[in-house]
Amino acid sequence: MERWLKTRQDRVWSEDLAAKLEGDLTAQSHQDVLKRVVSLIVGNSVLDVGCGFGELIPYLSHVEYVGVDSSEAMLKRARTKFPKAFFLDANLYTLDFHKCDTVVAIDFLHHQPALEPAFSKLLALAEKRLIVTLWIWGRTKGQDGPRQYHGMWGEFLTWHTEKELRQKFKGLTYRVEKSIGGLWSDLYIFDV
Ligand SMILES: C[S@@+](CC[C@H](N)C(=O)[O-])C[C@H]1O[C@@H](n2cnc3c(N)ncnc32)[C@H](O)[C@@H]1O
Repeated sequence: MERWLKTRQDRVWSEDLAAKLEGDLTAQSHQDVLKRVVSLIVGNSVLDVGCGFGELIPYLSHVEYVGVDSSEAMLKRARTKFPKAFFLDANLYTLDFHKCDTVVAIDFLHHQPALEPAFSKLLALAEKRLIVTLWIWGRTKGQDGPRQYHGMWGEFLTWHTEKELRQKFKGLTYRVEKSIGGLWSDLYIFDV
């Protein structure tokens, strides 16, 4: 959290960025990712961390949904789009919430300053399953630049190699669906 705040991530997800993301998050390719994610949800409750506009909601049925996001601007749009849904204005690092059957964090972890402590917190919130996307280093040609940098809005962009992730997730039960929504983006499904 300290590092997140120190690098002013609280200012990144602004009204301007929210307006820019409207096209990206409603694009068919992203919606297809979300549909796939919903098909992998287990149990009766889902916690959507870094929920953005809550774009997962239209694909859900018979499941209790809670969306969490630290950005007022993103949540404002989410609440307008889905007035009946329950959203929490909170940061993952300080979130105090009970476990949910499935925890989802899509296009979220690569925006954190480090995989830990975010990953452990997500896993601890999952009763049955955790579904995340991660950005994989080395898939696209010419990737010889930094593995972590700030994007044009100041947001973190963090890449991991598959080897690094295998080491990190050793001992956990999980599977990977490669290149979901983009060549470099993998879907990791952890069974708790
Ligand atoms: C790229 S958007 C993804 C939105 C959504 N998951 C989707 O796939 O449509 C990333 C979201 O994560 C939120 N976010 C980033 N860091 C966060 C943190 N530490 N705690 C809570 N939300 C965070 C941002 O405000 C933003 O809405």
